[in-house]
Amino acid sequence: MLLILLGVALAMTGGNCAYMEQEWLEVVAQEGSQAVLPCVMSLSSQSHFAAFHWIRIRESAERTVLHRKKSGLIYRNTELGQRSHCPDSQFGDYSLHIDAVREDDAGKYVCSSPGRGRTGVILRIIKVCFSPPEAIEGGSLKMACSVTPRPDPLHISWKLNGVDYKTNRESSKLRVSQMHQGNWTCLIRYGGATAEVTQSLRVKGIENPPFDKALVYAGIGSNATLPCVFTQGVTLNSSWKRLSKGSSSSSSSPSSSPPRGFSRHLSLPLPLSFIRPSSSSLSPWDQSAWLERVEVGDEGSYRCSGEVEGKLVEREMELVTARVLTSQSKKTTPLTLTCQLSNDKEVTRYEWVRVTHDNGSVAKETIVEEGKTLKLPKLTEDDMGEWVCRYHGERGPLGNVTYHVQIMGGLKSARQEEQTSNRPALAIGSVLLVLLVLLIALQMYRNHRRRKMILPYPALENIAHSLANKREERERRRMNEKKSTEPMQ
Ligand SMILES: *[C@@H]1O[C@H](CO)[C@@H](O)[C@H](O)[C@H]1NC(C)=O
Ligand SMILES: *[C@@H]1O[C@H](CO)[C@@H](O)[C@H](O)[C@H]1NC(C)=O
Ligand SMILES: *[C@@H]1O[C@H](CO)[C@@H](O)[C@H](O)[C@H]1NC(C)=O
Ligand SMILES: *[C@@H]1O[C@H](CO)[C@@H](O)[C@H](O)[C@H]1NC(C)=O
Ligand SMILES: *[C@@H]1O[C@H](CO)[C@@H](O)[C@H](O)[C@H]1NC(C)=O
Repeated sequence: MLLILLGVALAMTGGNCAYMEQEWLEVVAQEGSQAVLPCVMSLSSQSHFAAFHWIRIRESAERTVLHRKKSGLIYRNTELGQRSHCPDSQFGDYSLHIDAVREDDAGKYVCSSPGRGRTGVILRIIKVCFSPPEAIEGGSLKMACSVTPRPDPLHISWKLNGVDYKTNRESSKLRVSQMHQGNWTCLIRYGGATAEVTQSLRVKGIENPPFDKALVYAGIGSNATLPCVFTQGVTLNSSWKRLSKGSSSSSSSPSSSPPRGFSRHLSLPLPLSFIRPSSSSLSPWDQSAWLERVEVGDEGSYRCSGEVEGKLVEREMELVTARVLTSQSKKTTPLTLTCQLSNDKEVTRYEWVRVTHDNGSVAKETIVEEGKTLKLPKLTEDDMGEWVCRYHGERGPLGNVTYHVQIMGGLKSARQEEQTSNRPALAIGSVLLVLLVLLIALQMYRNHRRRKMILPYPALENIAHSLANKREERERRRMNEKKSTEPMQ
């Protein structure tokens, strides 16, 4: 059962429509929930033993639902069967409880007790329907809110996860995205009564990031995750592609991404430190990839795709790199640090944080300055260490990037983390290159030597060759002789 019960929606009004000189109470219940049809007679000392009778009026025929005789015996008709009961009847409350109400339980019910009156109740069943019940993003979905019997006029409004949704129609068709996932509430209003019903919708596809063009932030030199989490328990055949380099925002740096239609067919090589999700992962629906060391130039858009029940779903995201630029003067003081992002359209403010490790492992953070740039007028021993630029969006911190200020032996200098940590890689690279050149040279020398070794004896090869030829010839001649001596048949 998909229904999520968010409390029984129950609304009552003293309806004014007269039927056999009686008032009709309105009860609205969500399909699948328990409906309570009220029937409270005036109390008297006799109420414990009074007989009462619940009937249902269907197509102007009356049928008994539940009947209590004066003796206290209760009879139920097959109409509702064991789903109907009156738990408080011994206290004079003859309210009818119907478990797991269905659409065809809707209609008119009348409660009566001899000599004590009648109560009429209209039971309306409200439900939200999705078809198909579980949607795949990119597919279409029909959602409908129905009230049976339908009051007229009926006013309907919708909420998605508690926020007003733009339609007032009873049913509508959607092109599904992850934004449609969650709790849909249908609110109804008619003749002074209100009720609501909520049902949750699950959208299969890529849960995180939930929408295209999300920005993913990473400091240069850091280990960044490119998220791509599918809904659980779906088959997938996922892959990662790099679509463009540079940033999509025109305000910071010029974009090098090709037009959208073009980019679909083109993919660029993935960065060197790109690690694909492992197929033996514990959660196979988590297809997040990561870059072990983000480098300048890794920014740009990436696309993760996979199959959900045979349907291709994909998500594009932009990796935004953050780095610290320094004043490029020979003199190192004053040192100006500038926080630069490849795309800053979501950034609302920057702050500089001093991180100190006074006592070993415990880091102490102090916010030094608000703003994109930080000026260190006189570099002193105190300025040595980590400076972190933290950037915030409307909904909190987006990320940070660290810069290391180093001061060595009176000579003041500053270095970015990326440069220092690039150095070992560079060193290893050059050692490998030298080794490779040496190996090639060695091989060439060996080949040269071998040729020289063979040349002094050119006749040897010829002798061996002619010997083999002679043996072959002898063999052939023997075969021919054999053939000629055999009798013909
Ligand atoms: C939907 O409602 C359920 C039950 O109240 C709740 O646990 C869940 O977090 C809600 N989902 C969203 C997206 O609000
Ligand atoms: C980078 O992050 C991923 C995912 O969080 C992790 O599995 C991996 O071990 C990290 N790599 C390094 C070098 O820290
Ligand atoms: C996964 O994708 C490859 C290449 O697109 C295709 O050949 C293969 O049939 C797919 N596998 C499944 C299970 O769909
Ligand atoms: C380091 O910690 C010890 C105790 O944990 C404290 O006595 C000492 O003052 C600390 N040193 C600094 C420089 O904060
Ligand atoms: C920088 O970001 C990392 C990863 O999100 C976080 O663990 C760390 O606390 C942040 N540092 C500062 C100073 O905000």
